[in-house]
Amino acid sequence: MNYSLKQTSNSSTVLVVDDDPAMRIALTESLKLLGYDTEVATSGEEALAYLNEKPVGTILTDMQMGGMTGIDLFHKVNKYKIPVIIMSAYGTIDAAVMAMKSGVVDYLVKPFSQERLDEAVKKGLASASSVAEKSALPIKGRSMAMRTILTNNPGMLKLLKMTEVVASSDATIFLEGESGTGKEVFARFIHEHSPRAHRPFIAINCAAVPENLLESELFGHEKGAFTGALIRKPGKFELAHTGTILLDEVSEMHLSLQAKLLRVLQEKEVDSVGGREPIPLDIRVIATTNRPILKEVEEGRFREDLYYRLNVFPLHIPPLRDRISDIPLLAEHFIKKIAARNHQEPVKLSSEALSQLLAWPWKGNVRELENTMERACLLASLDGIILPEHLGFVDPIKKEPIVHNGSANRSEKTTLWEVERDLILETLEKMGGNRTHAAKRLGISIRTMRNKLKEYRSAGLLDAEEDEDESLEEEAGKFFPAVAQSGK
Ligand SMILES: Nc1ncnc2c1ncn2[C@@H]1O[C@H](COP(=O)(O)OP(=O)(O)OP(=O)(O)O)[C@@H](O)[C@H]1O
Ligand SMILES: [Mg+2]
Repeated sequence: MNYSLKQTSNSSTVLVVDDDPAMRIALTESLKLLGYDTEVATSGEEALAYLNEKPVGTILTDMQMGGMTGIDLFHKVNKYKIPVIIMSAYGTIDAAVMAMKSGVVDYLVKPFSQERLDEAVKKGLASASSVAEKSALPIKGRSMAMRTILTNNPGMLKLLKMTEVVASSDATIFLEGESGTGKEVFARFIHEHSPRAHRPFIAINCAAVPENLLESELFGHEKGAFTGALIRKPGKFELAHTGTILLDEVSEMHLSLQAKLLRVLQEKEVDSVGGREPIPLDIRVIATTNRPILKEVEEGRFREDLYYRLNVFPLHIPPLRDRISDIPLLAEHFIKKIAARNHQEPVKLSSEALSQLLAWPWKGNVRELENTMERACLLASLDGIILPEHLGFVDPIKKEPIVHNGSANRSEKTTLWEVERDLILETLEKMGGNRTHAAKRLGISIRTMRNKLKEYRSAGLLDAEEDEDESLEEEAGKFFPAVAQSGK
């Protein structure tokens, strides 16, 4: 039979496959208690039929079933990179090892604890998210369509070639680049072009996790290791076992933790907090920093030995201003992406706006460009073309918009935020206060619309609203009482 699975794989649904009704109920109840969304199938065949219709995050399947076995199901879906967890009552170490070797995410021997189940499902979903976001391509074409990094800059193309070569090894890679240059995109690209592509990709942002939590996040902790440690929690290193770990913004890590990290990297095993036995690790490490790491080393904020351990293969991603040929390419890409997301025709980009894009310093690099295009597309949605005024660039010296024409009825001092606000409120008014229609007209999600209105409310521009859950029409009536009344 020929299955064309409609998988986009950024789903968080767990598909439970078991021919035993009692087991199905027990599993779905446990998973629900753990906070997961579930779907069930009574056989491998039914699971495939389900996958044909809807995406799932991970599959939890019994080994022995009437027809297709758990392993058969795994082989059917493996090329689509859907993570599979197998459960078996007849678990032997050999079977488990065989299954894990062939790429099964985890192997649960019945009976297993809720904690063990949680751990396995987490692993499954984590490895699903590593293959997700690969655009909305149907999974069928996706095994070929690896993450592409958009560029036509000769330096970047060379860098990409090199990246592809080192990706195939197990070498530790150190990605340096300003904020927003695409370090995370590169890290995922490396993982996806490595022999570990179907294994977990686990990212941790060392700057975003509070210092006192980072240790147990990275290395895990045993039950009762400290007050509040109610269950054993595997660390990111353990979760990334057999796969790749991304240590994002590693330069922000505290010196004492740097020592522990160094030990893990040297010994290739991890001691969890409060744990007795070290856990052996097979891991590919990618680290990133958005500040010059050598300076951190020189100034004693980053351990030199750790630097050498991480800096096996350094890759430097150039800032966007040093590869301006990528700007039109990326701008067009984001316009199309935004339009596709909103099911709308892409807006055009005027040559005046383009020349401003080319001249802008892009301190926030590709991320800033993406945000700029997002805003510009929204502002340009009524005209269908992005004009310089939609970019919201402000002259850093004169502190005023670089170009200001078009909006004759707006004062010179109008900020982009105000332009956007006026546009939203005007559209809302035009649409009789109907948020859904207004959001559609503007090409934004109803959620974005709601957030924007909340923003205006907290800035005191709109009356406070008591109940967020009221019907949209009623809600709108509060902003535009006249419109709502005349509509009745
Ligand atoms: N070459 C590219 N093609 C398409 N999208 C890109 C490219 N480079 C970056 N992006 C997009 O730009 C945004 C920023 O990229 P990313 O998160 O990888 O940057 P970063 O270097 O990790 O930033 P930070 O240092 O702030 O963490 C993301 O939305 C990413 O998808
Ligand atoms: Mg990043």
